[in-house]
Amino acid sequence: MDNQTYTENLNRAPEKEPERQQYFMELLRNLAEERSRELGRPLTACIQTFGCQMNAKDSEKLMGILKEAGFTESESEASDFVLYNTCTVRDNANQRVYGRLGYLNSLKQKNPDMVIALCGCMMQEPTVVEKIKKSYRFVDLIFGTHNIYKLAGLLYRKYAEKGMVIDVWEGPEAIVEDLPSERKYPFKCGVNIMYGCNNFCSYCIVPYVRGRERSREPEEILKEVRALAADGVVEVMLLGQNVNSYGKTLKTPMTFAELLKKVAQVPGIQRIRFMTSHPKDLSDELIAVMRDCPKVCPHLHLPLQSGSSRILKAMNRVYNKEQYLALAEKIKREIPELSLTTDIIVGFPGETEEDFEETLDVVRRVRYDSAFTFIYSKRTGTPAAAMENQVPEPVVKERFDRLLKEVQRISAEQCKKDVGKTMTALVEGMDTHDPALVTGRLGNNIMVHFPGDASDIGKILPVRLLSSKGFYYMGERA
Ligand code: SAH
Ligand code: SF4
Ligand code: F3S
Repeated sequence: MDNQTYTENLNRAPEKEPERQQYFMELLRNLAEERSRELGRPLTACIQTFGCQMNAKDSEKLMGILKEAGFTESESEASDFVLYNTCTVRDNANQRVYGRLGYLNSLKQKNPDMVIALCGCMMQEPTVVEKIKKSYRFVDLIFGTHNIYKLAGLLYRKYAEKGMVIDVWEGPEAIVEDLPSERKYPFKCGVNIMYGCNNFCSYCIVPYVRGRERSREPEEILKEVRALAADGVVEVMLLGQNVNSYGKTLKTPMTFAELLKKVAQVPGIQRIRFMTSHPKDLSDELIAVMRDCPKVCPHLHLPLQSGSSRILKAMNRVYNKEQYLALAEKIKREIPELSLTTDIIVGFPGETEEDFEETLDVVRRVRYDSAFTFIYSKRTGTPAAAMENQVPEPVVKERFDRLLKEVQRISAEQCKKDVGKTMTALVEGMDTHDPALVTGRLGNNIMVHFPGDASDIGKILPVRLLSSKGFYYMGERA
């Protein structure tokens, strides 16, 4: 494309969103068709997602845009457009991206058409962008978390300009609705109910890279859920960094529990999940909705982070050990079949052996059905990074191993207690090891493998749990 055509087309672009992006998608589609004819094959696009469900959801939106722009989805990084949607919550997430960029460069040597793009949380860090500009010059396009809806416009610009195109925004502008999205599963889907985070836990980089908390209007959420249901989706997962503070900043405030009730009324939706709940503001109203509404799955992810009140204070988590234990106990009392899972960080600055013992104590008392355990990772710019007395690595490693052992022992015991029961499972796919089996997810989020075939995928079926394998079950159709 020559510069004049580009400038002319740019001048003709509508100002308003999403019309502006639709205009660019059409221009890209024309370019893609032309290039495909020359090459005698379709143009392919591959997105690799690092990080959490928010990023996975963003990737679905990005793939939706790419398909409208004339690309065919591919799993292979040997594609014409490759996008890494990055995570920066812990340093190992960053290292994985850097590690794989070299491989992408080798693929680009073989395909001069290839465009390499990076987006997501890592790109919101100026030091990362500087490093890529300096040492990874083969990258074509960089954007952040606040302007993913602009992918079509950015890619169009990339085709017109030489050199790296960089467009990272410091904060969000508006929430743009009604852009395409390409679902990974036909039967289940994540739905953003809010973006960003205001909690500023002292170790965490998410508030800096995802911006301030903002809730979507309930009507927009319900419109999306209705459209998903009409399209065959039976399970939705409502997504937010802290769903318990949903709706506080809306013009007409609404609680998360109220939103849950409204989503449960959408015909066709049979299961509702949500991620994540901060213990500081989990309401009795929410517990009641979880207890009384059969569509809300009996699973609660309630991140503990640490069992030591002293460390929790330094983490700025705003609850202490006793409050957390009381909350967990209340929830289990109200909803006995509920499965409770958590996140725990080991080696936060200043963590002593006594503090760590407190964490083990909570783990033993709450008896989590499963837990994600993380080694503390120092994130530039967070208050914890500047704290003195960072815990030496061998000490952290030793504690981490002890914690992991305890968590695994308890979750295996927890898993055993439901053997013999019949529960419903949403079949998500064929078993990857045995073609005679399918893999389903129980309401409590645990997986079960049982005899079935491809026609079962997407169905919710009753399954008898025959045996426990530690963190999953073998079962049979009931
Ligand atoms: N908003 C969610 C968490 C999102 S990040 C919540 O508050 O529950 C997911 C998990 O990553 C966190 O729960 C925490 O356990 C872990 N995490 C975040 N920052 C970390 C860091 N600097 N080092 C190690 N683990 C971290
Ligand atoms: Fe990070 Fe805390 Fe926000 Fe979760 S609630 S994203 S841990 S700052
Ligand atoms: Fe990672 Fe960003 Fe999620 S930092 S955990 S992908 S919000």
